[in-house]
Amino acid sequence: MTNTRIPLAGVIGHPIAHSKSPRLHGHWLKTYGIAGHYIPMDVAPQDLETVLRTLPKAGFVGVNVTVPHKEAVMAIADQITDRATLIGAANTLIFREDGKIHADNTDGYGFMENLHSGAPDWDPKSGPALVLGAGGAARAVISALLEAGVPEIFLSNRTRLRAEKLRDDFGKRVQVIDWVQAGNVVEDADLVVNTTSLGMVGNSELRVPMDGLKPSAVVTDLVYAPLKTKLLLTAEEAGCTTVDGLGMLLHQAVPGFERWFGERPTVDSATRAAALR
Ligand code: ATR
Repeated sequence: MTNTRIPLAGVIGHPIAHSKSPRLHGHWLKTYGIAGHYIPMDVAPQDLETVLRTLPKAGFVGVNVTVPHKEAVMAIADQITDRATLIGAANTLIFREDGKIHADNTDGYGFMENLHSGAPDWDPKSGPALVLGAGGAARAVISALLEAGVPEIFLSNRTRLRAEKLRDDFGKRVQVIDWVQAGNVVEDADLVVNTTSLGMVGNSELRVPMDGLKPSAVVTDLVYAPLKTKLLLTAEEAGCTTVDGLGMLLHQAVPGFERWFGERPTVDSATRAAALR
């Protein structure tokens, strides 16, 4: 009998009910006529390693990992890509046939693909970027921006120490700006990125003054609920090019889908609609 196992993948988080990934991957599986499944899995932290070591035995070819497991999987994985090591977290795991778990982080890739597709005229080398927030998402964004050749990054976070830690990890092109001073460097920025959770439904608004925004600047928000955050609305009014955060979620999923199911999926309007459904 030939081995015709149907490939399985999914997303592990805790909680997981609100993840858009099952709809997104489900859409691609249907679009490309692939006999596979992608399912949400709510796994408590203490069960993470047992689950990850068991899933390959049940036909899983890999999983996405989300909050709160993205850092914890780094200690479990057998192989880690350089970019995941630099970020200190992984979001995409590949279960290899030899039983080894390979960990990658595609958040920075997703961020950059989204930015290039939403703001095709943006030139990374044109000038400084202002990054708001210094959490896990900021680490992925900063590593991608530095790799793309952004000359200088102003990094501002409510908890200054966290921003200083990032500066220590990423080097001198990152300059820490006090949270209350962030508005003062807006006029120098060719790119503004919100990586904080401020502006998300149910959270407070981002209150960094944006009066100094240059009309030539590109403004992007990692928050995608709502799709048009106050930051993006303000930026639109200032004449800036804006890029919403949903595209990052879609693009970061591409490498995993390709590795697991053998087809490189396209991100288009149908993909967006499927994720929002
Ligand atoms: P993620 O992985 O999405 O980056 P995180 O690591 O929890 O999540 O980081 C959340 C970010 O939003 C941090 O930069 C956090 O600032 P602190 O480091 O000071 O906590 C920021 N953030 C969350 N709530 C905030 C608030 N009310 N005011 C300012 N920043 C806030």
